[in-house]
Amino acid sequence: MITIYPFGIVGERQVRAFRLSVPGGFCATVLDFGATLQSLTVPGRKGSVDVVCGYDDIEGYLHAGGYQGATVGRFANRIAGARFDLNGKTYSLYANDGRNHLHGGKTGFSHRFWTAEPEDGPEPALRLTLHSPDGEEGYPGNLDVEVVYRLTKECGLSLSYRARTDGDTYLNLTNHSYFNLCGFASGSVLEHTLWADADRYCVPDGELIPTGELRPVDHTPFDFRTAKTLGRDFALTGGGYDHCLVFSDKPSGFCKRLELRAPSGGITMSVFTDQPAVQLYSANFMNDPIPFKGGYPQQFQHAVALETQHMPDSMHHPGFSDCLLKAGEVFLSTTEYRFFIF
Ligand code: GLA
Repeated sequence: MITIYPFGIVGERQVRAFRLSVPGGFCATVLDFGATLQSLTVPGRKGSVDVVCGYDDIEGYLHAGGYQGATVGRFANRIAGARFDLNGKTYSLYANDGRNHLHGGKTGFSHRFWTAEPEDGPEPALRLTLHSPDGEEGYPGNLDVEVVYRLTKECGLSLSYRARTDGDTYLNLTNHSYFNLCGFASGSVLEHTLWADADRYCVPDGELIPTGELRPVDHTPFDFRTAKTLGRDFALTGGGYDHCLVFSDKPSGFCKRLELRAPSGGITMSVFTDQPAVQLYSANFMNDPIPFKGGYPQQFQHAVALETQHMPDSMHHPGFSDCLLKAGEVFLSTTEYRFFIF
């Protein structure tokens, strides 16, 4: 079932919230502003739990940092020096993270209105589309993007992305939800257990820009190939997880790459994706004064973002995943979050 309701005003335009639900208490609320996941309630042992951070009104999405629940692009994560060369031309982007470009710039996809089309049915879905004109935020190519949120029969939330451009461009799309499987207002996430099928990570510099080194995770805090709590090696990370983990080469394609588990017998979330990497971010900057839903104050490490994506700054590192979208090619990607109680 899909219900639609107003969610505030941006400029002259009404923001609409689309509540997708299926019997049993699994429900997702998505905003047409930023194609944003505002709420995700999952059946738990003691009723449904809202497992993603978000705001009760549009102000938080407009003015707080963090990109809570948003669809991020044209290029998610960072681009060094806010510029890149492509086909013999240099493109200058908006530097909104020091001297670097982050999450699509000043007004990236997370802060744009998308056109929403609900598709009700046994697996209710919301199709959101956006046109990003040539030159927007400095990027070349007229780009048409689509993301479809769908509740699946496996108690999953599927996000399917599709994009086409009429001019070569770089593209890196992700969803920036922050999860706490005990409920977004339940406290620290560091006792959650994470498994990740990642054997390397992008070594970052002091500006969180990759040096270009893909280092094996062996004997580092970034090794989650055997499940461990996020807190076990947290102190060894130098300020928290904000690192791009690179999935192992085998298997490839759409497969299970991550599993996040609540500490005390409860909800588990498996993440399936065809993306080559994930930014593991332990919400180290999550302390904006604007409170979350129900007035819950933002707090570092009270949720974790698992941003499946291409590698950051990949156009500047030949050994990184290829994020070039050529004119006329179609970009397709799917990430699915599947929930169950253990
Ligand atoms: C990504 C980045 C973090 C931070 C968040 C948004 O996760 O890697 O450094 O910028 O986005 O707050």
